[in-house]
Amino acid sequence: MKKLLFIFCFAFILINCKNNSEKNVNPKTKTIGLITEKAMVVSARVEASKIGSAILQKGGNAFDAMAATELALAVAYPYAGNIGGGGFMVYRLNSGEIGALDYREKAPLAATKDMYVDKNGNVIPDKSTVGAMAVGVPGTIAGVFASHKRFGILPIEDIIQPVIDLARKGVVVTAKQEARLEYFQPYFNQVNPHGTVLDGSWKENDTIKYPALANTLKALMKNGKDEFYKGETAKILAEFIQSQGGIITEEDLSRYEAKWRKPITFEYNGLKIISMSPPSSGGICLAQIMTMIEPYKVSEFEHNSLEYIQVITEAERRAYADRSYYLGDPDFVNIPVESLISQAYVTDRMQDFSFENATPSNKVSHGKVDIIESNETTHYSIVDQFGNAIAVTTTLNSGFGSKLYCPELGFFLNNEMDDFSSKPGVPNVYGLIGAQANSILPEKRMLSSMTPTIVEKDGELLMSVGTPGGSTIITSVLQTILNVHEHNMSMQEAVNAARFHHQWLPDEIRMEPGRFSKELIRQLETKGYIINEERSPVIGIVDGILVTDDGKLEGGADWRGDDTAIGF
Ligand code: GLY
Repeated sequence: MKKLLFIFCFAFILINCKNNSEKNVNPKTKTIGLITEKAMVVSARVEASKIGSAILQKGGNAFDAMAATELALAVAYPYAGNIGGGGFMVYRLNSGEIGALDYREKAPLAATKDMYVDKNGNVIPDKSTVGAMAVGVPGTIAGVFASHKRFGILPIEDIIQPVIDLARKGVVVTAKQEARLEYFQPYFNQVNPHGTVLDGSWKENDTIKYPALANTLKALMKNGKDEFYKGETAKILAEFIQSQGGIITEEDLSRYEAKWRKPITFEYNGLKIISMSPPSSGGICLAQIMTMIEPYKVSEFEHNSLEYIQVITEAERRAYADRSYYLGDPDFVNIPVESLISQAYVTDRMQDFSFENATPSNKVSHGKVDIIESNETTHYSIVDQFGNAIAVTTTLNSGFGSKLYCPELGFFLNNEMDDFSSKPGVPNVYGLIGAQANSILPEKRMLSSMTPTIVEKDGELLMSVGTPGGSTIITSVLQTILNVHEHNMSMQEAVNAARFHHQWLPDEIRMEPGRFSKELIRQLETKGYIINEERSPVIGIVDGILVTDDGKLEGGADWRGDDTAIGF
């Protein structure tokens, strides 16, 4: 099924490309995204951006809009938006205070290190990706309520009611969704003999209603976070998962808490980057890559030129090698964060880089200091009228997660357990290889690549950015920031531009097909690089907000999805 999951992603992305060909703009043509004066929400669906923006217009702040947008995505974009999954938020208040919220899923209490391995030590196909055994304890509702409790200003009823109304009224099917639903139907049928709300032959412009999800949201609105983790919803959810062969109990749910974390911060060429800390690898990898490339003054290379791709690829190769070895849940594993992102260590990692030839990945291992994940995720950025900014990435892991749908509660459950390393050295669904640091333990959080990021320039907010894309998340966020800062692109141009990706293993540069010249590819191959234009027809679906020189906001909503910026 892992192979099948690859094929899903590939087929879905191909469909995306086809549907978006008219929007596949030439990055050299000046393109500007939506400009607003005060506030903006950019997300994967127009319905979610509208609801988030309306909350801001009503006087709510970015955290109120976070709760509304997150829940609205669970209704409008069940492919990745969720209440059965988890995510990360990075924030910057108008005072300059920064922070991060971790509402990543956890392994259940009954989880064991070898739960996905047979008696011969082989990984059991599909067990960590499909059905009830793949589900991690969901964190999204804890995240929404933790964020709202600490920073929200509007009553929760004002935030959730519009989402309930959306679920009851229904959501119009887009062309991309039609193709996606047709593709996933056999997998829904395979996992859900009891049926799902998405069963049927849905066509573009049909309306899908979500009455069971509306009822769950109503109970959450009335009883708060405890409804999901200790109340009737918890009881129904635990019983349902167990009835399907899973191991999540009411105790697992009752013990779940979202955690406030200190984000990873670092300087890059006049910018301060604020990104997600472990259990996401995003911030550390981004810090390593940007620190490795800084001495090469990449603005002096033409955008996506030979040398530009070489420097970035070699930095990515080295950072991903470290990722696979050192990173995991910081509550369980001692991660040498300061050493890993220190100038001395990172500079040393690039010592053997030369423009003459590629460094083969089998010559790059994790470095010596003292001491693996899809377009199936989704990201949204919000800047409010008070100057607060958030970047949030949220996921079920694969598209529709484990494909397991709870009919009584009306939502899909994640397959985030696959983000653990089932067996050190064996790649997960994104081809990422994990080590001991990311092995399974009860109540441990699985490693992520999600990289919600906020950028400051001269002490002021510059950008909120992020993307889905599994292992390609980090490198897509990197290229978007560089496009704006080093290549003077608008936010929309930065999002539109062609992207490439290297993750150490497999030792290849993935490129969006048809967007890099044949001559450039030939030159890279001559230097020993392996180019793969087939694996990822699109790399990332980036959403971002840029504060322009005149203090307005520019949205970058990715043409690769149905993403939309709304604001005022
Ligand atoms: N499940 C994708 C990630 O967390 O990176």
